[in-house]
Formats: sequence, C-alpha cells, structure tokens
Amino acid sequence: MKEETRTAPNLKDASYAMHEKGAAVYFHRLTDHLKGKQHLSTLREDFNIWKRQHIKRFSFTSKYFNEKRSKHPLYYHHYIQWLDKRGKLYDYLDRSISYIYMRDIGRALYDKETKEKVSRSVESIRQQLLGEKDNNQLSAFNMVEIYRWAQKENVESSLIWVIDKIKDITATIPKELDPTETRRKLIKIIGGVVIQELDELDASVLPATRAKRLDRAIRLGYAYGLTYPFIDDILDSSLLANEEKKDYASIIRQTLLTGVVPPLSVWLKQTYPFMEFVHAELKEAFEYIRSQHSKEAWESFLEQSYVFFQSQELDREKDLAVETYTNSDLYVPIILKSASSRLIVRSLIDANEDQQVNEQTFYYGIYNQLSDDFADMFTDMEAGSVTPYTYYLKYHEKRKDLINPFELYWTVISYLIHHVYQSDGKTREVILSRAINGLKRFKKKWGEQKYEEIMELFSVEPEFNHEIQRIVRKATDVDFFDKLLRDRMIDDLKNEKKEKEAFSDSVRKIRDTVNSMLPLTPSRSNSLFDDPITEAANYSLESGGKRLRPVMTWVMAVEEYNMDPATIAPLLKSLEYMHTASLIYDDLPAQDNASLRRGRPTLHEVYNTANAELAGIFLTQQAVANQASLTGFDQTAILQLIYYSSIVATDMCRGQAIDLSSRGKTLTVDELTEMCFYKTGIGFEASLIMPAILAGKDEYEKEKLKLFAKHAGIAFQIKDDILDVEGESTQIGKNTRQDLENHNATFVSVIGLNGAKELMWDHYCNAAEALEGIKQNSTFLKHLLDYVINREN
Ligand code: IPE
Ligand code: IPE
Ligand code: MG
Ligand code: MG
Ligand code: MG
Repeated sequence: MKEETRTAPNLKDASYAMHEKGAAVYFHRLTDHLKGKQHLSTLREDFNIWKRQHIKRFSFTSKYFNEKRSKHPLYYHHYIQWLDKRGKLYDYLDRSISYIYMRDIGRALYDKETKEKVSRSVESIRQQLLGEKDNNQLSAFNMVEIYRWAQKENVESSLIWVIDKIKDITATIPKELDPTETRRKLIKIIGGVVIQELDELDASVLPATRAKRLDRAIRLGYAYGLTYPFIDDILDSSLLANEEKKDYASIIRQTLLTGVVPPLSVWLKQTYPFMEFVHAELKEAFEYIRSQHSKEAWESFLEQSYVFFQSQELDREKDLAVETYTNSDLYVPIILKSASSRLIVRSLIDANEDQQVNEQTFYYGIYNQLSDDFADMFTDMEAGSVTPYTYYLKYHEKRKDLINPFELYWTVISYLIHHVYQSDGKTREVILSRAINGLKRFKKKWGEQKYEEIMELFSVEPEFNHEIQRIVRKATDVDFFDKLLRDRMIDDLKNEKKEKEAFSDSVRKIRDTVNSMLPLTPSRSNSLFDDPITEAANYSLESGGKRLRPVMTWVMAVEEYNMDPATIAPLLKSLEYMHTASLIYDDLPAQDNASLRRGRPTLHEVYNTANAELAGIFLTQQAVANQASLTGFDQTAILQLIYYSSIVATDMCRGQAIDLSSRGKTLTVDELTEMCFYKTGIGFEASLIMPAILAGKDEYEKEKLKLFAKHAGIAFQIKDDILDVEGESTQIGKNTRQDLENHNATFVSVIGLNGAKELMWDHYCNAAEALEGIKQNSTFLKHLLDYVINREN
C-alpha cells in the first residue's frame, strides 16, 4: 500500500478501527464459548430434536436424486414433482425461503411479520413450480418470464437497460475473469437486491412508486454488482501485475475515502484498454449510487463500502507462507467482510433503519463465510489463498494455538441459535439442515475418502465427530431450493454457451454452402451480347448478407424433415433470390435511395437504375424457375409452394408500397406492425412454411410456425430500425440514419428508441411462447430468436 496516495483525512480509517473493534468483541465472545465447550452439549441436544424430523428409522430416499446431478434437462422439474408427490415440497420451500430471509434479509424467523412473508412466498413459489409445464426445458432465468414480470411491474425499460449492460460486459471482459461466471454473479446480485426491495415494498405502496423503486433497485443492484467482477475479481486474478494491483486498489480506496473517483493512472491506461472500460463503468455506477442517496445515506454507504473493501484487502494480502498470523488476524477481517457485504445492500436501497436486522446480519455473516470456505478449502489451498481452513491445514501441527475453524463453525451455529435467535425452533431446524447439507455436498463433491480425512483432521471431539458423521450418512430432507437454483443456473449457462456455439457453427456452415450455390451463370453461348443483368444480379448476391432466410429453410428441411440438402438447393436459392431482389428495389432512388448495401455501393450506383430494376425482375423470375425445377416431391405440393411463394411476393410489394406512402406520416403502432408484417414478417414466414409445404405438414403445425415467424419477423424489423439509429455503418454494411433522412415511419420514429426496444422484447416473448407449441427444433428457433434481437448487423 502506498502511503502517499492516502491524501484524504482518514476519518474512515478511524471508523474502520471502530468496526474492527466491534468484530473483535464478537470474535472474543465466540472464542470464549468455544473454550467453554458448552456449545457441544447444547448442539447435541439441538441435534436430538432436529433428528426427529430428519432421521427416519426406515428411510425411503430415492437413490435417483441422491446421485450425481443428472444431465437430463428435465431433472430439476422432475425433482420438484418428486418432492411434491411425497408431500415434501412445502417443507423444502419453507426451509429454503426461511434461510434466505435469515441470511440475506437479516430477519428473525420467530418474528410474526417474517413468518407471514415466508409463508406467502412459499405458497406463491409452490404454485409457480407446480404450474410449470411438463416440457418446460427453458432455463432457470427464463428471459420470457423475467420480461413478463417486468411488464407487470412496469419496469421493462430498466430490465432492457440492465440486459444491455450485462451483454456489453460479458462481451468485453477478458477470459481470465470468466465471462460466464461474471454474468452469473451479476444476475445473482441484481436479483438479490430486487428481492430485498420487494421485501421492503408492501401492498400500500402505489404502483407508480413501486415501479420507480424497482427501477432503482435494478440499477442499484447492477451498480453494486459491478464491484464483484470489476474490483474483487480483478484484484484476485492475474490480469494485473502486483504493482498494478496496488495502484488499482489505491484508486478504489481513494474513491471510497474521498467520494471522488480519481483518474486512471497513465500506465494502466496504456497497458489495458479494458481497464479504461472498467474505470468508466465503475465511475458511472458510483455516481448513480450517489445520485440516489441523501448526503447522510451516501456517507453511510461509503463507510460500509470502505469496511468491506478494506477487510477484503487485508484478507487478500495474506500469504500462506507467513507462519505468524494470530487467530484475530484470521477471523476479524472475515467477520467484517461477510457482514458488510450484506449490510451494504441494506444501505444501498435505503432500507428502513432496523437495529435488530443490522445486528442479526452482523452476527450471521461469519457462519456463511465459514461454510463457504469449508466447501472451497481444496480450491483455496491450490490457489494459495489464506482462509481459516487452509491456514489450519498447513499449520495445525506447528501452531497448537490455532483455533480449529470447524469447531468455531459449530460454535457460531450454537451462538446463533441460542444467543442471537433466542433458541427458536425454526431457526434450529433451518441452520442445522443447512449445515448438514453443506457436509453432504462436500462429501459428494470430493468423495468419501477425502471427506473422511478432513473430518478426522478437523475433528472437534471424537464423540461429537462420530455423531455428525452418522447424521450426514442418515439424514434426509436437508436440501435447499437456492442450491438447486444455483446448480441449475450454472448448468443452464454452460449449456447455453455450448448451444450458442453450436448454433453459430451450424449457421456458418450452412451459410457457406448456400453461398456456393447462389452465383448465376452468365449466358454467352448463343448470344452476340454480354450478359450485364446476370453480372448485376451476381454483384448483389456476392456482396454477402446474412442468408438468414435460406438458413432457416435449411434447418427446417434438412434437420427437421430429413430432406436431402441437394434436393432442396433450388428452394434455398429461390428464397435468397427473392430477398436480394427486394433489397435491390428497396435501395432504388425512387424508394429508399440508399448508396450502401451489404458493405458495398448499391447496385444502381455501380450499374444504373435500369439495370438494377431489370436485375430485380430477373432474380424474382430465377426464383420461380428454381422452385418449378424442384424434383423428388409431390407435384401438387410444388405447385402449392409456387402459388404460396407468389402470394408472399405480392404481399411484400404491398407492404413496401405502404411503407413508402407512409413517409412523413405518423402511423399508429398497429398500422406500423401490420405494414412491417407484410414487408418483412411474411418473408420470414415463407422460409419456415415452404419446407413445411414440401413435407406435407398439417395446418396446425403450419399455424404455429406462422405465429412464431410473424413475431420473430416483426422483432427482426424493429431491430433493423434500431440498428439504423444505433448501429455503425461499417458493421451493418448500410448507411445509418437512412430512415431519418427519408422521414420513414419506423418503430423508432413512431415510439422512440426505448419504446421500440420494449416492443421488440414483447414480440420476442410472443415468438418464444409460440415455440412452446412446436415440438420441432425449438432449440434452433430459440437461438435464432436470440440472434434476431442481439445481432449487431
Ligand atoms: C434487410 O434484411 C431487410 C429487412 C427486412 C430489414 P437482412 O438484414 O436479412 O439483409 P441481408 O440479407 O443480411 O443483407
Ligand atoms: C426493408 O426494410 C424491407 C424489405 C423487405 C426490402 P428497410 O428499408 O428497413 O431495409 P434496409 O434497412 O434498407 O435493409
Ligand atoms: Mg425500406
Ligand atoms: Mg431500406
Ligand atoms: Mg432499415
């Protein structure tokens, strides 16, 4: 730590010392208890009561759910159903929600209001879980559900804002910081802050105030959540060299001491453009938090944050090679950091000042930290980090004065039950269950042998140890919903990442194949002239393009209906020819008058308007010719396809005409939506319906696909309108702000950028909901939908 950077008057250091003293007092109280050993007999009695519910003489736990988490996508769903069938679901949720109220919200479970709140949440979550459809394979943080919730609470724009932020961060953060893990943490913290705020809001709060406070909670949650990847993880990682870490830490410390964010050091700026991004984002977050607080509340937030940061730093700086840390050195910062991390959230949202909640939160922290550190002891050992467990593992033989952290852990449990929560029965039930669950999870994760070794090494007393071991073997009903959610979220995020990669991969491959079949052969053989029209058509075709329409057709035809790619090649070509023709027309001076398309000058600029017009007709007719040349299908189906395709083309012309005649006019959202369905949505629809026609699918299936395509297509056009305003020309390959110049009626011009984003998300949800009725490749279509709204070109 460089002393010279501490220019601020160290009032906060004085206050840190005060907090440290408080933690030391608590720690000494705990050690007194530990030395007195009374906690062991008390715990034995507690376990005797607890066992009545958890150790059955004949237990019928299903092996299936005790084994390693199944990879089956419906595992979580089945597990909930399994609990319900055995009448265990209520207790399971009750235990879990109670635990969250105790740990995250600092409540006492014997408190009447808390009891009511817990039972209300349990009931509503139970209803929701049991209402989940059997085929619900969507993820734990199903975006559709979350967006629908935001609509109900009137906080769509805040949700969209935070989604975009998380997206930016995941895209920018280097691998060392693990983007997936960063995303999980951010989601978790934001969710936690929103839950705390929901807990503060009662029924008397007016809807508008409620929305405002939830908006604030989302933004504050993000602002605070950012400190985990951007302060904690960066300082823990190998991204910065040691000297750099010190400088970076001093920037943070300076900020918390003075309330002013200092500029980034010059060397950091040169070395790491990423750090510039980090600095800017943190600064914005910091200033947002300030803007949301009174001077007094802000001071108290800074103070809590300083305690949090400083205790983390003290902890981080410890070196496993140092043999001389005292017990206080080891435990006091832990008490401080675990308590302040939760107290910050309360001061963050300006929760009602509640002395009892604050104290409970303060006492509770170390339990949680000791439990986490127990679970991570091998990983921490490998990383060389000092925790009470790693330190004890390394020095327990040399240093007989060291407290056994596992013994302290049990002491804390006993202290919490009897001295903090007044020997409350529910508290005993919940905490002991959680503790046994932790041991079971440890055993499952590291295996029987390692578990035995650890239990031996950390043994508190042979008899007590033996009893705990027996309980871990025999106890049932100690599972927790938040653990299930966490596991599920980790699985989902991993799975989503894998699926996304597979999706991009297969799109790339299909696109390459489609690209190779598109060029038209100039006809020179029996002519005295060149073929400028074929050349012109090829110019447009070869310029690139996402090929989204033929890609969709390919997936439906080849992967769903098992058709041969070579057999449907004419169909794929026809779709891209029609689409490219529509773009050529759209760009003409008489229409959008665009000079750039697919990253190159538009066709009429390179050739001339006449040739561009002719190339358009030429391509449309090539499309018909290709469709008519399809072989290997029912002739009537082919005719039906050509008929359908012609109607699609006429509808698109109508849509485009409405678009052009709407310039300068203010359309209603409904009019705009209809226009956009014709000009864009219908082309999307065609890509899915044409293969269905060839495959002879029934009306029911086609209707479902149409519904999906309609909403996906509209979302696609809304995104196109948004990109016209927000995109970069080099990225989208078109001129930006073209719509503005033309006074086009677009979603952005009619309902504004934020309105457009909200409507896009609404169509996203509608499309995703339509997918629930489709058995087919909904994974592909789901990713396609994600791509539609997340694409950058
Ligand atoms: C552009 O379509 C026209 C709209 C319907 C918005 P695409 O965005 O699919 O264009 P390319 O084919 O990738 O160039
Ligand atoms: C395109 O709408 C509609 C067509 C199907 C041609 P836009 O005019 O917004 O498309 P871009 O932005 O020029 O690609
Ligand atoms: Mg247009
Ligand atoms: Mg255009
Ligand atoms: Mg456009």
